[in-house]
Amino acid sequence: MSKKQVLVTGACGEIGQALIQGLAQRGGYHIVTSDLAPLPKSIQPYVSEHFQGDMLNKTKLFYDYDFEVIYHLAAFLSSKAESMPEEAHKVNVEGTMQLLLLAAYKSEKKSRAVQFFFPSSIAAHGLPDAKTKTAVGCIKEDEWLRPHTMYGANKLYCEDLGNYFSRYYGQRHLEPEPPVMLDFRALRFPGLVSAFTLPSGGTSDYGPEMLHAAAQGKAYACFVRADASLPFMAMPDAVKSIFMLMDAPRPAISQSVYNVSAFSQTAAEFRQRALQAFPGAQISFEPNLLRQGIVDSWPADVDDALARRDWGWQPDYDVDRFFEVYFLPEIRKRYGK
Ligand code: SER
Repeated sequence: MSKKQVLVTGACGEIGQALIQGLAQRGGYHIVTSDLAPLPKSIQPYVSEHFQGDMLNKTKLFYDYDFEVIYHLAAFLSSKAESMPEEAHKVNVEGTMQLLLLAAYKSEKKSRAVQFFFPSSIAAHGLPDAKTKTAVGCIKEDEWLRPHTMYGANKLYCEDLGNYFSRYYGQRHLEPEPPVMLDFRALRFPGLVSAFTLPSGGTSDYGPEMLHAAAQGKAYACFVRADASLPFMAMPDAVKSIFMLMDAPRPAISQSVYNVSAFSQTAAEFRQRALQAFPGAQISFEPNLLRQGIVDSWPADVDDALARRDWGWQPDYDVDRFFEVYFLPEIRKRYGK
């Protein structure tokens, strides 16, 4: 049987590395990747071709391939995007636009819908302040869509672009025989935590940074207040949710963007867990105004009832299982603690 050609952009990022391992485990894929960085050794054996460099200059090369699935993960994360908004917009929005055009063209030409996965984020939401955030608690996909960050605005707009290209591109759906359009699917991820990699440039990074520091016996100054609360998810659950969403038959998909959630934690609760696991861990709180402001604008919890209803979403890791079954055993192996 011929292999499914897939493209993974941002392959060297946290989701990229975990996703490529997941694809390799499933088998049957011809994996092409792109990233600014060279591929880490751990995923090199699974990748057929890697394009290193700025994705905006690479997209035209991808017209030579017939990708059945595009996982477009390349992006500037939220804190980095805030320090370089114009650059971030280029990468986050123009990069997505180029790939959507490619997928739209190939879908029509081959009369087969290219599947397009886009990782969106809780950053697409924007709550006015911490008080409102506490008062509203858990929010649905269509609530509080006024992001405070460049990254969040980019994600929200790209969700709309994806929806446009998969349903209304050129208003071609009104033609007597509309062309085959691409099949865009997005997940709004909470803060993701991997035992194997560390994020950089994000705002939810204090969660994973704190845990990795504690595991290595390094002191950590948390850049948000102890009461800062966000939804988080174990990386294996993020990969599981991507596969579940992409495997779902198209008629089961009632919308192009879904919330997914696993557990919410305050920074103080993370610290408590880290101290239990690594007694003597030195974790202090030194809030950074800008990053605290971003966290205050993101929801403390998201309602993922639609994902549960439409394609049976359920995380494997609640907070206890996250620590006991996934994170601590892996991290102890990794750092030899
Ligand atoms: N984890 C991301 C960030 O902090 C949000 O999607 O930027």
